[in-house]
Amino acid sequence: VILTQDELKKIAAYKAVEYVESGMVIGLGTGSTAKHAVDRIGELLRQGKLKNIIGIPTSKKTHEQALSLGIPLSDLDSYPNIDLAIDGADEVDPHLNLVKGRGGSLLREKMIEGACKKFVVIVDETKMVKYIGGSGLAMPVEIVPFCWKFTAKRLQELFGYAGCVAKLRTKGSNGKESGGEPFVTDNGNYIVDLYFKRDMGDLKAASDAILRLAGVVEHGMFLDMATTVIVAGELGVTIKNK
Ligand code: A5P
Repeated sequence: VILTQDELKKIAAYKAVEYVESGMVIGLGTGSTAKHAVDRIGELLRQGKLKNIIGIPTSKKTHEQALSLGIPLSDLDSYPNIDLAIDGADEVDPHLNLVKGRGGSLLREKMIEGACKKFVVIVDETKMVKYIGGSGLAMPVEIVPFCWKFTAKRLQELFGYAGCVAKLRTKGSNGKESGGEPFVTDNGNYIVDLYFKRDMGDLKAASDAILRLAGVVEHGMFLDMATTVIVAGELGVTIKNK
């Protein structure tokens, strides 16, 4: 049997929900993979197999989904210590560093997933890369709208050595929406997508350099954050622990 990518995402998501126990505060991820995990948590609550869960959603979209499933919700202000978060990723490197934010929710994801005891990442095998940026897909950076061209240019210059190209994300550029206007995040900001031709090298140094630029809010590299990565592939599920 050949499984579709969505079936693989669902397998990884269901496996991750096995880590959820009654009474936990759970960070709820965003995206097509995390959606399956949120659905599954809702289902187990409905069946009475899980009880007293509090969900902390990482986006307005996930907030709506969880609400429609009847999952009790709260936020980081009320629950600054989260037991476990489950979320997808766009890329996972051999050290379990991630790229996230193709769906645009990187800032809330990073705030919430950075406040978790355990962070379980769920991916299908196509997300595994040799190095961050290696998929040829975007590494997103959330920036303030004010003079975004200036910030985009400075980001591109920062990684000139890696053949970086910076593009403003528009409503059409993530392939999911149409129109040419800037994509606006849940926090009212823009996203610049960085594309790399070569390995950017030292990720910690890259992260620091990006965050030092005034105008940058956050970037989509999640370094040393994942505690477990569940990879679903044609040949089965692999679990990688930090
Ligand atoms: C949302 O901003 C992203 O970080 C997603 O979690 C990530 O892009 C994975 O999305 P998919 O599961 O849809 O590939």
